[in-house]
Amino acid sequence: MVKRRDVLKMGAAAGAALALPTERLLGSLAGPDWQVDAFARPLPIPQVLKPVASLADHDHYRLTVGEGVAEILPGVRTPVLAYNGQFPGPTIRARQGRPVRVTVTNRLRTPTAVHLHGGNVPQDSDGHPSALIPPGDSRTYHYPNIQRATTLWYHDHAHHMEAQQVYSGLSGLYLIDEARPWLRLPEGPHDVPLMFRDAGFTDEGHLRWELFGQPNRTTVLVNGAPQPHLRVRRRRYRLRLVNCANERPFRFRLANGAEFTQIGTDGGLLPRPLRRSEITLWPAERADVVVDFSPYAAGTQIVLENADGEVETARRVLRFDVVGDGPEPDGVHIPATLYPAPAPRTPTVTRKVVLSFDAANGVFLINGKPYDANRIDFTVRRGDTELWEISNVDTALQIPHSLHLHLVQFRVLDRDGVPVPEWEAYPKDTVSCPPGSTTRILVTFDSPYTGVYPFHCHFVDHSSVAMMAQMRVVP
Ligand code: C2O
Ligand code: CU
Ligand code: CU
Repeated sequence: MVKRRDVLKMGAAAGAALALPTERLLGSLAGPDWQVDAFARPLPIPQVLKPVASLADHDHYRLTVGEGVAEILPGVRTPVLAYNGQFPGPTIRARQGRPVRVTVTNRLRTPTAVHLHGGNVPQDSDGHPSALIPPGDSRTYHYPNIQRATTLWYHDHAHHMEAQQVYSGLSGLYLIDEARPWLRLPEGPHDVPLMFRDAGFTDEGHLRWELFGQPNRTTVLVNGAPQPHLRVRRRRYRLRLVNCANERPFRFRLANGAEFTQIGTDGGLLPRPLRRSEITLWPAERADVVVDFSPYAAGTQIVLENADGEVETARRVLRFDVVGDGPEPDGVHIPATLYPAPAPRTPTVTRKVVLSFDAANGVFLINGKPYDANRIDFTVRRGDTELWEISNVDTALQIPHSLHLHLVQFRVLDRDGVPVPEWEAYPKDTVSCPPGSTTRILVTFDSPYTGVYPFHCHFVDHSSVAMMAQMRVVP
């Protein structure tokens, strides 16, 4: 294991296009970082949380948020924030139609709020940035699971603190399992969650935190480990790719040219499976993919690359090591129709959302305003379909943004007038907004819930510096 101050200096320039204001970037290149033995460590799989009670009408889980220690770099004890002491947090496995309650106890020295990202949940269970759990307190969240089976994730959402708290470890997966038994997707050990994020380290190997510290976060962690390997058999695997990074977009591909079959996106299965050689995921986006390892001989090593990685530890992120003697029937059946999308409805309301950076004050703005918990930006009627036109006007500094809406899944129509590809259309809860772009989305407020919900950029360093707004859904 070596520190790699010098490697970092050379490589960081490549990441600059995605980074924040130039002066901050240049000021932060001096830091140390670490390098580990590539692909030495097996991929950790987050533990599936057991309910503390399974009652007639719901499963009850407990999460304790607190300070913990994780071995991220070999032999180094790194202080982290953790759910149930785990980095990343445990996975909650829910079932469509079966409600879940999660009681969260806060043992941090700071407030927390837990948000179920992509969840169709009542307002008082949304983890709104002002609905805080003070240190020492508990809160029970109700998740009805009245939505498609999909890959959701939970994370900290305490306003002004979410960037640091998420970075320090406060995220975990929440999977809603399919209630349609005829869909025979790979399962059990062949259904593998892959949570990607990046991190930078201090000389002692502690997580190095600074707001807008993206240029220093050059080590990508997969389920909390840098450059792990996963032994796979010669069969099909379902991989749930989740971008949990504060600010890093990923562009994944398999080094040997193997393809992904994408079956799902943020909010559930796509209308049909799509062959893809490259998958781009911006912060908070998910892709549900199937990869077939049966064509490869035992001993084949296939690196999952992030084509935009500026250094080795950000580029070669995971290696699949094919083991096993021969192909075995895997029983998997991926039908040609997965989940037909609902017909788009005609919008009755059109809104503009302008994303910008106020360089003078160092804050990010939505429609020219910083977040104000006491202001309602949009009032929307439950059941309505709205057209939102989202423009990222930060062309001078080339700052990327995204937009995430709580409560609902939406349809992405087009970007700069060009219809988006099928894999990006529906169901989505987070959409990328590159510098200078205008993206149109069609949102049907088809949730039964009303109340105040946030929408914000999911570069969480931006949202924690005011790039957030609120909508009130009224009956
Ligand atoms: Cu994943 Cu309001 O965020
Ligand atoms: Cu969310
Ligand atoms: Cu942003």
